[in-house]
Amino acid sequence: MKLPLFPESASTFAPDVDHLLFYLVGVSVFFTVLIFVSIVYFAVRYRRRSDNELPKPIHASLALEIAWSVIPFGLTIVMFGWGANIFFRESRPPKNAMQVYVVAKQWMWKLQHMEGQREINELHIPVGRPVKLVMTSEDAIHSFFVPAFRTKQDVVPGRYSTTWFTATKPGKYHLFCAEYCGTKHSGMTGWIYAMEPQDYQAWLSGGRAFGSLAENGEKLFQDLACGNCHKADGSGRCPSLVGLFGRSVQLADGRFVSADEAYLRESILRPDAKIVAGYQPLMPTFQGQVSEEGVLELIEYIKSLAPPAAVAGTTPAEINVNPDRVTSSPSNP
Ligand code: CUA
Repeated sequence: MKLPLFPESASTFAPDVDHLLFYLVGVSVFFTVLIFVSIVYFAVRYRRRSDNELPKPIHASLALEIAWSVIPFGLTIVMFGWGANIFFRESRPPKNAMQVYVVAKQWMWKLQHMEGQREINELHIPVGRPVKLVMTSEDAIHSFFVPAFRTKQDVVPGRYSTTWFTATKPGKYHLFCAEYCGTKHSGMTGWIYAMEPQDYQAWLSGGRAFGSLAENGEKLFQDLACGNCHKADGSGRCPSLVGLFGRSVQLADGRFVSADEAYLRESILRPDAKIVAGYQPLMPTFQGQVSEEGVLELIEYIKSLAPPAAVAGTTPAEINVNPDRVTSSPSNP
């Protein structure tokens, strides 16, 4: 599409979204023209020709009634089905997607790669690979909008929202905040750099100085002395975190919850919201002590705590098996 009306088309979703838009515009234009032409035609055709002219009474036509009910119904069902299909695909990141964390704040985007690279208002990604964003906000509601990818997702404080895309061609693409978030909302912009995979690897290896998210999380875990209670062998006063991520956890009230990012975040910031069965509500809140980035690092550290192969009775649904982390994770952090 070379129409200047459209932003560049640079993700796998872009053609699908555009085709749906063409359909919506096509249907709208067709009926707009039909209605306007009909109004003019009928106004002329059935105008009153003399002061005492009385129009002939007309009777409703069942066939006509059915036609103008069924045809719009069919057209809108197509809109619904087509739109829902794209929506569901955009809402479900593939399992093999590369993950990037996004923390929005007034008025900037902070992005963190698993390998430790941090970026502000810039995101480097490889083309041809699905990228999943796990996003939260420190303050107001923001919205992560990349027109060239046809992706827009609200970023809400207090929870994680996700989106994903696969860039299809290298280039530099605008990132906008698409939710009014205060005086400098319009300045909350950035760039996505889609790179050839080898260029991306080169970029990635350019800055490991910060350590990976999981490594930083492990350090934070030690600084906060979490290991005093969360002993790896399960002998502590709090549950062991080894192999926790992705597993189903039974709570004191009998419910089962999935240990996903949202659960871990809540357990760090509001520990008494969900008490694990068999444990006491002893844990203090870390609200205010750990930043959103710190929470993400802790989550990545917990994800990296794969269960020892010998005790692998229950296989977590999607654990991040990272061999060098398994061996280096201390038994009593
Ligand atoms: Cu952030 Cu608008």
